[in-house]
Amino acid sequence: MEKSGSELSLEQKYQLYEGSVQCHESDLDFLNQEYEREFGRIPLVLREDFCGTGMLACGWADQSGEHHAYGIDLDYEPISYGKQHHLTKLSEEARERVHFVEADVLNDCSFKSDIVVAFNFSYFIFKQRAKLLEYFSQVRKGLSPQGAFFIDIFGGTDSYAPVEEETEYDDYSYFWDCESYNPLTSECLYHIHFKYEDGTKYKNVFTYDWRMWSVREVVEVMNEAGFSKVHTYWEGVDEEDGSGDGNFYRSSDEENCESWVTYIVGIN
Ligand SMILES: C[S@@+](CC[C@H](N)C(=O)[O-])C[C@H]1O[C@@H](n2cnc3c(N)ncnc32)[C@H](O)[C@@H]1O
Repeated sequence: MEKSGSELSLEQKYQLYEGSVQCHESDLDFLNQEYEREFGRIPLVLREDFCGTGMLACGWADQSGEHHAYGIDLDYEPISYGKQHHLTKLSEEARERVHFVEADVLNDCSFKSDIVVAFNFSYFIFKQRAKLLEYFSQVRKGLSPQGAFFIDIFGGTDSYAPVEEETEYDDYSYFWDCESYNPLTSECLYHIHFKYEDGTKYKNVFTYDWRMWSVREVVEVMNEAGFSKVHTYWEGVDEEDGSGDGNFYRSSDEENCESWVTYIVGIN
């Protein structure tokens, strides 16, 4: 049976989403490792743009009494879920080091961060190059002198094929559905659906109206925004099954494949 995604409760909606697309522990490892490699010290202040439920921001502040996190999102719905489900799991002191801000990431911000992170391709909402440049320039203004901007990006020959890709989890399936891709504008429309074991499929739980950016375009816009260096990464391959092994290394020359996700890091 098919139902509209709006029929899921908020709890179900964000639990399913987080269980399918987020792994904040490995994100934290990557941020810490790559920042320390660049600057030879531990980063302490993180700003998570498009933070949604702020799971990463909460995990960040939980690392030590010196770690502070800001989570910025326009929408109070995921923020309120994050406050109820992630913030409350932290100690009282750690909670005070997390600041959720309901705002547009394009706004000026009054604090500086060692790291600004925008994961799950959220900057794809900026369809015009000038808008992406405005966003990257705002990010740079909010970085401390030893600051790094981390984003992820996806691509590959399958990434804009009009297909619905299913991933099975213990008691539900996650669907990544590319409804359309316009080769003349690079605009694409994606949906996330979920199906429970009883066969009920909740359609269009999340919808993303994006522009597909290429790594090269993003690197060029970061350079234009004034980042002194931009590092691109690629994922190692598991020798047994040929899939990604979760280890990302710096690289600027790789062979394309059907589907890949990787990172780009701009250094202030
Ligand atoms: C794809 S979700 C990403 C959530 C989370 N970062 C993650 O990794 O799963 C995009 C989020 O960006 C927020 N958003 C969209 N435009 C925004 C803007 N201009 N400023 C701040 N947040 C925005 C949406 O409300 C939504 O929560």
